[in-house]
Order: sequence, then structure tokens, then C-alpha cells
Amino acid sequence: MSPQADSPTLKAGMVGMGMIFDETYCPFFESAHREGMFDRRFGELSVELSAVATRTGKRAEKYKTAAGDKIADFQSFAGDGAVTQMLDSGLDFACVASPDDRHFGAAKEVIESGTHVIIEKPSVLTMQELDELVELAKQKNVLAKVVYHKLFDPDHKKMRSLYYDNVLKHVNNGYCTLLEPKQISGSQFAEWIGGRNPGTYVACHYIKLIDFSFPGKLKTISATGQRGLVGPQDGNTWDSTQLRMVYEYESGRNATFDIHTSWVTPDNFPGYVEQEVQFRFDNGLWNGHSRKRGVECTVEDKTPFTIKNSINNHFNGTFVEPWGERSQRGYGVEVIERFAREVAYVEHGGTDADRGKRLAEMQALDYNDLAADRQTVATIHALEAILERAAAGEPDCLVRINDPKGGLALYRPGVAEPEILYEGTV
Ligand SMILES: NC(=O)c1ccc[n+]([C@@H]2O[C@H](COP(=O)([O-])OP(=O)(O)OC[C@H]3O[C@@H](n4cnc5c(N)ncnc54)[C@H](O)[C@@H]3O)[C@@H](O)[C@H]2O)c1
Repeated sequence: MSPQADSPTLKAGMVGMGMIFDETYCPFFESAHREGMFDRRFGELSVELSAVATRTGKRAEKYKTAAGDKIADFQSFAGDGAVTQMLDSGLDFACVASPDDRHFGAAKEVIESGTHVIIEKPSVLTMQELDELVELAKQKNVLAKVVYHKLFDPDHKKMRSLYYDNVLKHVNNGYCTLLEPKQISGSQFAEWIGGRNPGTYVACHYIKLIDFSFPGKLKTISATGQRGLVGPQDGNTWDSTQLRMVYEYESGRNATFDIHTSWVTPDNFPGYVEQEVQFRFDNGLWNGHSRKRGVECTVEDKTPFTIKNSINNHFNGTFVEPWGERSQRGYGVEVIERFAREVAYVEHGGTDADRGKRLAEMQALDYNDLAADRQTVATIHALEAILERAAAGEPDCLVRINDPKGGLALYRPGVAEPEILYEGTV
């Protein structure tokens, strides 16, 4: 359907076009290109992927050729200065989906240019980086948001709703796991895997789920892990990690959560990306398991490589719809669309004089605003520091949050005085 002649266009930029671009951003941009976006508050809008910035430009060219008329023509910039060139082309919002430790620089540039930004999880790796981006976004009057799509998973939403409505009462403890196959660490992420760990990469999903679903005060972080498969056993690249978070609640009671992650499970394990959560409450239990959602599929010569045995059709499924159309949809795509709608509402949802009010309304959404990502980033910051210490030959450190000595205080075994990772209050 052709857009109305006077309908505005939101121009979008993309930093990084890897696996997550293929799975969530690409289906969103293709459907927005086809259908536009409508909401009574902002009317009809076109949304176009207008420019991209990647390391080499190869994936962008490959995608452009493959997509054909499924997407508008976009400019592709590569190498040093690519983000600046992308922003110079004039954008309304940009998505940052470069590797975990390369979010900050790109996001800062985007915000500095006065452009709304959405950053893939984990938003940034330190509290200092978070403070800088939040302050900049305030100065520039733009949205600065982060993607935590697991908050949109209907199973997690149901669990949170039961807790929110006080049907499930006071969480006592929990266990979450996310296991990735070896091909992730061995080939997909080979370019940036050095010095990285699967905890920062995927535990952050559950850190946010816990922080958002069971709002309390983060108290203590400890962590350990294993090495020797992706990199040397005495190096700083991790195969698997186990993270523990302790929270305190208004009642004075505590809860403890353990999150186990790995990116070295065998490529043919039937779970593929296996995800499990167990939460125990005063009056109940919640057990969610990706393999127990009810689907198990086997296709000779295809599963578990090109088709997964336990398919998560809720995240990002490709379908032939009952009306014949092919689609790719799920909560992974929905979360990106939701952000585009927030931008559209700020820019086109009323008069210019009221833009500030609309901006404040969207910034108050703490499921995705960077300003509300403090305890999640604090946990990642602590995890990174604990693993760095362990790789340097000093295991078993722990980090206390809002300690009398500082906001993030790292305690080393046998040493009374902590190292302060972050002075401010988390
Ligand atoms: N939400 C999720 O479930 C999910 C899943 C996978 C990845 N991610 C996140 O998305 C981000 C990217 O992961 P991926 O799986 O797509 O990785 P990937 O390795 O498949 O792709 C990385 C992309 O970033 C580009 N890139 C690298 N350095 C860059 C730089 N300095 N400037 C611009 N572009 C650069 C590369 O060219 C490539 O296109 C990571 O932060 C990751 O944690 C999220």
C-alpha cells in the first residue's frame, strides 16, 4: 500500500549488521518498509533503514543484494569514521548492535548528534559509561534506550504479572541458565571473542529480567567461570560463567539469584540456545524451560543445524501465515518496533510545544530507558572486574553495591580495603 503523500518518514541508522541484525532488526525494517507504522497519536508514518555503519561493509552489501525491493536503498559506510558518516546523512534514530564492548563509543556519537538511540544488550560495560550516556541524552533531549527482548517473552511477562499482582509473593531465590553452542564462540563471534565472556553476553538478559520483575536493592555480586576451550586456560577469554546476585527488599528480606551461561555446548545438543528459569517464592514456584514450551522437531539432515530441535517460535519465527503471506515475527522483533513507536510518538505525537512532555513520558518507561539500567550495568561492571581479577591470578573477589566505601566496592580475599570501581551511588 502506498503511504499517504504527506506522511512523515522516520529515518533509521544501524551500527553493526551481524547475527542479531538478521534475527530482529532486519525483519522489523522490512515489515516497516512494507507497511509503515500507524498509531492514532501520530498518524501514518514511513520508517526506513536509511544508512548503516559496519566494520568492513561486506555484510551490508550482501544484505542489500539479497533483500532487493524488500527494503529501501540505504547508504553503507565502513571502517573508521563510519558512524560519523552515517549520522551526517541525517537520521531520526539509530540502533547500535556492534559487539558488546563497542557499544559505548558508537552510542555516544549517536546521542551527541541529537539522534535517538537504542542499544543492544548489555547497554554498556561500566557505570561511568552509563552516567555519561544518560547525562548526554538529557542535554540533547533524545531517547537513549536498551533492548532487553526477554521482558517481552510472553512466559516471562506472565511470571512478572503474577508477581506484580501479588499472586506470587516475595521471591526467595532463583536459577537461570542460557547455553549457546560452540559455533557461537568458535565462528560467529571469532573476530571479537578475545577477552570476552558469555556472562556479559547473555546473563544480562536474566539480570534485567530479575531486576525489572522483582524490584529491590542489589547488594552483592560474586562470580566464577571456566576457561580452556575458546582460549587458553590461564587467559582472559571465558567458556562459561556462574554469576550470583544478592538483592534486599523493602521488608528487609533477601533473595539470591544464580545465572549460569556457556558458549561452548556441543553444536548438536538438542537444546541449541537452551534457556531455563526457576524462581521460588514464599507461596509458589515458577519453572520455565525453552525445551518444555511444547515443541520438539526432528528433520533428517537438518536438525539441529539448519533447523533447531526445540524451536523458540515466540522469539523470532519464520512463518507462512494462514492468509498466505510469509512473515518473520516474535517478541525479538516486537521490542524494536516498540522503540520506533516511542520515537514516533515523541517526534510526531502532538505539537512542538509539547515535545518535552512526550519525551519525559517515554523516558519514564523503565523497561528500556538507560537511566533505569543502573543495577543491570552495575552487575555487568562487577562481573567484568571479578573475571579480570581471576584471569590475573586472583579468584574469588566479590563486589558490594552501595558500600560505605563506594558505589561498587571490589573486595579481594584477605585484603580489608576494597578497590572502588565506581564512586557514585548505584
Ligand atoms: N538480543 C539478543 O538476543 C542478542 C542476540 C545476539 C546478539 N546480541 C547483541 O548484539 C550485539 C551484536 O551481536 P551479533 O550477534 O550481531 O554479533 P556479530 O559478530 O554477528 O556482528 C557484529 C556486527 O558488528 C559490526 N561491527 C564490529 N565492530 C564494529 C564497529 N567498531 N563499528 C561498527 N560496526 C562494528 C560487524 O561488522 C558486524 O556486522 C552484541 O552486543 C550482542 O550482545 C543480542
